[in-house]
Amino acid sequence: MVKLVKKAVFPVAGLGTRFLPATKSVPKEIMTLVDRPLIQYAIDEARAAGIEEFIFVTSRGKSALEDYFDHAPELEATLERKGKQDLLDALRGSNMDSGAIAYVRQHQALGLGHAVYCASRLIPDEPFAVILPDDVIAGEIPCLKQMVDAYAETGGSMVAAMEVPADKASAYGILDVGSDMGAMVSVKGMVEKPAAGTAPSNLAVIGRYILSPNVLRTLGETQAGAGGEIQLTDAIAKEITDGDGVYGYRFRGQRFDCGSKAGFLQATVSFGLARPDLRGEFSEFLDDLAAARHAAE
Ligand code: G1P
Repeated sequence: MVKLVKKAVFPVAGLGTRFLPATKSVPKEIMTLVDRPLIQYAIDEARAAGIEEFIFVTSRGKSALEDYFDHAPELEATLERKGKQDLLDALRGSNMDSGAIAYVRQHQALGLGHAVYCASRLIPDEPFAVILPDDVIAGEIPCLKQMVDAYAETGGSMVAAMEVPADKASAYGILDVGSDMGAMVSVKGMVEKPAAGTAPSNLAVIGRYILSPNVLRTLGETQAGAGGEIQLTDAIAKEITDGDGVYGYRFRGQRFDCGSKAGFLQATVSFGLARPDLRGEFSEFLDDLAAARHAAE
């Protein structure tokens, strides 16, 4: 029996420079898709997968993110008095249990691998999940839940995987596929941000991981790799050379790269259209916009 995955690490120390000037004072994880911050989507996905402890790796300037998870008793009381039940439900849905959240600081931006390593002391010896909140995944069954279910069969370590166009491979961690079993692939190598034309496949790592605690030990010794940063991909690849199983899981769902402006806009449109309370007005607006563009061509 594999151990249950109860802890998740959220690396949220990044500077978010691609969204300056907004991120001058607002952490990018607090930027909203419709009416919920990016981080809320990540938390909800973790909860749906059975995660009970949430570890945030933060940095300077992220206090708004820490405050976001505090309860808001005055606001709750006001909404209750006014009988605004739907807003109250939305607000309470973001409440976290006392003690469920831990924050650790990454003092230097040494890379994703280093950020995850910063959580080591809070994860003594058990498998754990990592969620990159920039990767927002819409799916009937939340992506991490799909992975936790698949992981119950395989053990080892598992990364979410998605086919990407060949000319985009150098923006990702790329899997060297051993055997391809459909949704699941066994991985025989991994390379972070391969140089153009050298990617071993077009199957890319997307920001959801279930990792063996060995990966944390390895990260403590991992040297800087691609981009001069300590890479999580390199530590996971070491699992393979050590003879431990690493799997890629082709999740069902649509992934949005909310670390990029275009991806963020696409997610906004898609999530807006998916909302019953907005769909009518919003799709009418989009249709008008498309018609006007068409007419102007
Ligand atoms: C990170 C990982 C990379 C992965 C990507 C998915 O890269 O290092 O392996 O493919 O997330 O979004 P980043 O986007 O932080 O450069």
